[in-house]
Amino acid sequence: MSSTVAKGHRADRTPCAPTTAERVSPAPPRRTAAETGHGQGDHRRATPPATRPAYGDDPRAVDADVTHAVRTVLGDLLDRQVAAAEAVDPLFGEDLAARVARFTRDGGKFGRSRFVWWALRACGGDEPWRTRSALRIGAALELIQTCALVHDDVMDGARSRRGRPALHIDVAAQYAGAGDARRAGRLGEAAAILAGDLALAWADDVVADTELPRPTTRRVRDLWSALRTEMVAGQYLDMQGEATSARSVARAIRAACLKSALYSVERPLALGAALADAGPAATRALCSAGRCVGLAFQLRDDLLDVFADPRDTGKPTGGDIRSGKPTYLAAVAQARAKSSGDRRAQDLLRDTLGRTDASDAEVAAVREVFVAMGARDTVEEKIRRLVAQGLRHLDTAPLEPEPTRQLRTLMRSASGAAGAGASDAVAVSLTLAAGEGAGR
Ligand code: IPE
Ligand code: MG
Ligand code: MG
Ligand code: MG
Repeated sequence: MSSTVAKGHRADRTPCAPTTAERVSPAPPRRTAAETGHGQGDHRRATPPATRPAYGDDPRAVDADVTHAVRTVLGDLLDRQVAAAEAVDPLFGEDLAARVARFTRDGGKFGRSRFVWWALRACGGDEPWRTRSALRIGAALELIQTCALVHDDVMDGARSRRGRPALHIDVAAQYAGAGDARRAGRLGEAAAILAGDLALAWADDVVADTELPRPTTRRVRDLWSALRTEMVAGQYLDMQGEATSARSVARAIRAACLKSALYSVERPLALGAALADAGPAATRALCSAGRCVGLAFQLRDDLLDVFADPRDTGKPTGGDIRSGKPTYLAAVAQARAKSSGDRRAQDLLRDTLGRTDASDAEVAAVREVFVAMGARDTVEEKIRRLVAQGLRHLDTAPLEPEPTRQLRTLMRSASGAAGAGASDAVAVSLTLAAGEGAGR
């Protein structure tokens, strides 16, 4: 551990909680130091598990290309899981396990695992057992992301992801010639449910097989359990809000926090801090920053769904309008239409949001209402403020400077604000083209 990471700083401000309604209380029940074995400087007494040389032992080599390092560890894990699946049954191995592996390896930007890594490094973690564990936990997060997205595309009825057919569409297409299309469609959805389950099971295996000293294990497992549950809770709120047209601003923020901010940013940062055995001040600063930036990340995703070019995001545009997704963007637009007494805007939103068969012209009309009501600008402004607030939180604890600089860059790009002017979809598209922008 580096000596520059001081422990026991005084309490920071409440994380990213502009209003009471926006607060989510995600933390697992607090345990006392006696229960957990944690306390100031406990890491010094922690006995690391026996070590053998492995990839990730040299933190500076990983620093140079974190994505490559996670991809390497992940590749090894996936190869073994696919081989095991093929041994169970070759068809299962080929149709499901290989798809899960491909999706996880090829697709995303590895943002979650990079948050784990740079949080670890920002808290001074550099011993081999910590760095190796961080890469494994990062790999597990990439797997949970596979589960989340594969299931999400079924729930949202989305046909494409990362510029390719969504997994359920891909499997349906493979079997379309074998029988009637309806059966192939059902097979695709069943395959996606099972593929998501498989990815989650593999993710859990990776966490369970990561050897850590006892107090660190407790911390990591608590965080892992919390983030899994939070993500499921958020997805449920999202779908329930869609089905019931429950579209309040407070509810939208809550769902966005749960379905995205926590498992995508705050919890990965907390995991990195836990693996470094960071003290409360550093942990709090990272978590507070993560909450703000994680929320900004989802608000950007919601803007992209309405305003971006699908060629840039790799997923359909307008889906949130047609499904009546209870986003913050839609909630603000609806509230403004009402408070301004704009009947036409109110009617249009009421009649089009949630209509799966809305035409492109109708979707475009909703888009215009979002702009005219100032909802788009409001969301942009909120993202800007959240990111600024998040970055300020990083100043509240003595974190290592260079890793913290990396975290700042990662946070800006996760919110689509990589360039100074990410206030329109074009700027965001450019960052996406560079493989560093918002989106999943
Ligand atoms: C999905 O939210 C969140 C999770 C996968 C947990 P969205 O439904 O908005 O994500 P996209 O837009 O399909 O990527
Ligand atoms: Mg979706
Ligand atoms: Mg969704
Ligand atoms: Mg979305």
